[in-house]
Amino acid sequence: MCGIVGYLGTKERVGLLLEGLKELEYRGYDSAGLALLGEGAPLQVFKTSGKISALEHLVQGVRTQGLGVGIAHTRWATHGKPTQENAHPHVYQHSALVHNGIIENYALLKAQLEQKGHLFSSQTDSEVVVHLFEDMLETTPANNVDQALQVFKNTIAQLEGAYAILLISARFPTCIFYAKNHSPLILATGKEGVYFASAQNALVGHAQQMVRLGEGSVGVLDWQHPIDLNRLGVVQPIAQDCQQSSKEGFSTFMEKEIYEQPKVLSLLGRLCGDRVCLELPEGFLEGISCISISACGTSYHAGLVGKYLIESLARVRVQVELASEYRYANPATQEGELFIAISQSGESADTLEALRLAKALGLKTLSLCNTQNSSMAGMADALLLTHAGLERSVASTKAFASQVLVLWLLALQLAQERHALYPNTLQVQMQALQGSLQAMQEGLEWQSQVRTLSAQILERDLKGYFFMGRGVFYPLALEGALKLKEIAYVHAQGYASAEMKHGPIALADSSLLSTTLLPQHLLFAKNLSNVEELRARDSLIFALSPIKLEEATFQIQTRAYDHYMPEFFHMLVILQLFALEMAQLKGLDVDKPRNLAKSVTVE
Ligand code: F6R
Repeated sequence: MCGIVGYLGTKERVGLLLEGLKELEYRGYDSAGLALLGEGAPLQVFKTSGKISALEHLVQGVRTQGLGVGIAHTRWATHGKPTQENAHPHVYQHSALVHNGIIENYALLKAQLEQKGHLFSSQTDSEVVVHLFEDMLETTPANNVDQALQVFKNTIAQLEGAYAILLISARFPTCIFYAKNHSPLILATGKEGVYFASAQNALVGHAQQMVRLGEGSVGVLDWQHPIDLNRLGVVQPIAQDCQQSSKEGFSTFMEKEIYEQPKVLSLLGRLCGDRVCLELPEGFLEGISCISISACGTSYHAGLVGKYLIESLARVRVQVELASEYRYANPATQEGELFIAISQSGESADTLEALRLAKALGLKTLSLCNTQNSSMAGMADALLLTHAGLERSVASTKAFASQVLVLWLLALQLAQERHALYPNTLQVQMQALQGSLQAMQEGLEWQSQVRTLSAQILERDLKGYFFMGRGVFYPLALEGALKLKEIAYVHAQGYASAEMKHGPIALADSSLLSTTLLPQHLLFAKNLSNVEELRARDSLIFALSPIKLEEATFQIQTRAYDHYMPEFFHMLVILQLFALEMAQLKGLDVDKPRNLAKSVTVE
């Protein structure tokens, strides 16, 4: 949530900061800004509502020379609307600040400062920090950088909440003050300066080495004093291949990423002959009595699929909890419990904190992440990378497919180790795994039919969209509904098919479309009864099934497979394409839907 870039050095700073911000735009894109300061150059601040392209336009022709500092920010609004006033950097008399996170006690601090005569120009929580710093500097004047750092530390000590903060001041024009607490911030070095960023992809081509600043880090970078990264944390090289990819001829990143699924989900290296061999530490799965899975959004849906697979294949009890709920639920634990955190980004604040809690509770922990070097990747006892490749569209597609696949492999490995499956059943599962990759490829073939159906559905001017399924198709229904509401901005809700009659069916009429997942190999007849119940109340039915349904208003007669998991992946692709086509037909920004961000680093 929000992206930060900072630079101290002699390079031209405007281009560098904009380049970095563009790489972080997935973290929020409702407003953006930057501040510049240099030897002999005054504090300059540029900020605007809208995407980074608007900021780029604003700073056209602005260039820096010589030694100086710059800080920049792309925002996902938490406090205050996405206006120019609320955009960062926030400035008071001689300082400017960018912040990612939430200052929870800002209202109290603001009231105290207002009593002293401070006038605020934004509704944000962040602005209070720059006022507080300058206020403290008034009462404790600083004649050198060390004294100013002490004032900055005193300022930070007043804050409660999560923050990654960069602050520059005209009184110390070649310094950047920084603080980090539960929001990501990396510090990196290159030949011509020192860099800060929320994520390393912002620094590719500039910095070579980085450290992930530890919780509670507060300090200052001063051009006069060379920096020793080793003193600050574990030094890692900047991965030079982590930058945003191009659309490669597709109209959107989402479409490109949907099409990448059959390719990126290679099982290579994780199947050894007819056995699953995940790269887990020796004996890691021994003695597991039960599993808790925690995640958010799409990753949570993958966790729900994982529950069905692990319980049915490995016979281990699994509970799945939204990470934001797990954190504050005072969870009861059990001897031998394994905790699994699932996250595409590896940075979601809720999931990170759930993982921290699980560790503090003494549980064995496993991270399922798509992003190597992310905060979550290094935190658990073991890591399974999902290897989906960089996902740029805000709506997650290939990451979900890869999470489900890795959870399936984990279920099989557990089953192997516990001798929970007969060899021939394991063999059937292996074939279903291989068949699922093919099924995804074949799912792509429906795109033009999905487009035609989407146009017909949009013509109906519906009031609501239900998605229904049973077993693993229930979380798939939740995921289908989430994709549609995220990018097509319609009210969509996923349900377990049989739950319909316990309440939601009250909404059924001819202005409701019920998208129903009816795989041939999982409870087909039961699902069909639920379709009949809806049809009897005039709901329109959009059926995904290999079996022709007379009851359906719209149907994609999916390919027939010999197992329900290839059917799952085939239907997943169709649901993703449905959301994509609906959004495109409505002329919406598919890759950057309103109000969302790719990486949610606030609670
Ligand atoms: C939906 C989506 C979000 C994320 C959620 C968790 O398309 O992308 O629901 O799944 O914010 O993100 P990660 O997996 O990065 O923890």
